[in-house]
Amino acid sequence: MIRNHQDRHSVRTSATNGTRRAGLACLVALSCLTSLGATSALAQSAEKGRETFMAKGCWGCHGTVGQGGIHGLKLAPDPKPLAYYEAFVRNTLGIMPPYSERVLSKAEMAEIHAYLRSIPKAADYRTIPLLNP
Ligand code: HEC
Repeated sequence: MIRNHQDRHSVRTSATNGTRRAGLACLVALSCLTSLGATSALAQSAEKGRETFMAKGCWGCHGTVGQGGIHGLKLAPDPKPLAYYEAFVRNTLGIMPPYSERVLSKAEMAEIHAYLRSIPKAADYRTIPLLNP
């Protein structure tokens, strides 16, 4: 009788565990899929953004990877927020010419921002053998 009860109990427990495990697997798979989708969408707009960054001449002052130059400030890695870009790039009146929505659409600005976000940080010099003789 006791044994029977234990058996039933263990069957029920393993069924619950199985369901939980399947649920967890689904969750993990779902989050992987979602993040993969997000990553490739970001990669796509980053690639378009790189083209726009070149076509609109941003690179000429800010460098091809936003590293900064004689005229333009460093933009990447870790660019300021997109809202800052929308405010600054549209309205600047300094050395940098303002870009209205007629010459640079909101979508293009977002792509440029995605491109700048995609630029990786430089490696720590301590991890580069040539710099550590
Ligand atoms: C003629 C050179 C020139 C071009 C072309 C140019 N910029 Fe700039 N940019 C500058 C300079 C110089 C500054 C520093 C602020 C100033 O003097 O206007 C600046 C500042 C900025 C800033 C503010 C950075 C900060 O940290 O505050 C952003 C963002 C920016 N530029 C984005 C762009 C984008 C995007 C493009 C292309 C659509 C672009 N710039 C094209 C010269 C340029």
